[in-house]
Amino acid sequence: MLRVVKLLPIVILLGGTVACESGRHSSAGFRLPGDGDAERGKVAFVQLGCNQCHEVSGMDFPKPTVQPPVPVVLGGVVPSEPTDGYLVTSIINPSYALAPYPKETITVNGKSRMPDYNGKMTVQQLVDTVAFLQSRYKVERPTARPAYF
Ligand code: HEC
Repeated sequence: MLRVVKLLPIVILLGGTVACESGRHSSAGFRLPGDGDAERGKVAFVQLGCNQCHEVSGMDFPKPTVQPPVPVVLGGVVPSEPTDGYLVTSIINPSYALAPYPKETITVNGKSRMPDYNGKMTVQQLVDTVAFLQSRYKVERPTARPAYF
């Protein structure tokens, strides 16, 4: 019992540093401006050729052409909302947070098959594209009880 009590502050301290992610490269303070426009984002998405690889749930864009096909469909029903930070990181640093799909379908030599768009898109296009993508996700939290109850 004594041991557990002694360890507790250390555990709390460690938990704090991991959970809050402080430091130079943390996402603390990150916030997109509120003027992201889903309609403009939709236009940018096609202009930038994102639809060459991605289908977007509920949208009627020209079909992806890339071979082999990329299985990553954007939008649709998800158990929790993707954060703006996750979407921005997916676009400007694709290999950092790989989408949850079989690695062999989404990577080449350990890197994402998605090019980064940092030299090709304006910051406003990035903000608008994130607003567009956010508008395509629908959150449906799994029910707490199994259906057979
Ligand atoms: C050459 C194909 C290709 C193009 C073009 C492309 N992507 Fe991707 N994208 C991928 C692949 C492969 C992944 C999965 C690997 C990863 O997470 O980087 C991905 C992942 C993503 C994810 C993460 C999805 C998730 O469920 O985790 C987002 C968001 C995304 N792309 C947005 C875009 C946007 C916006 C554009 C255009 C600016 C774009 N992509 C253009 C191939 C592409």
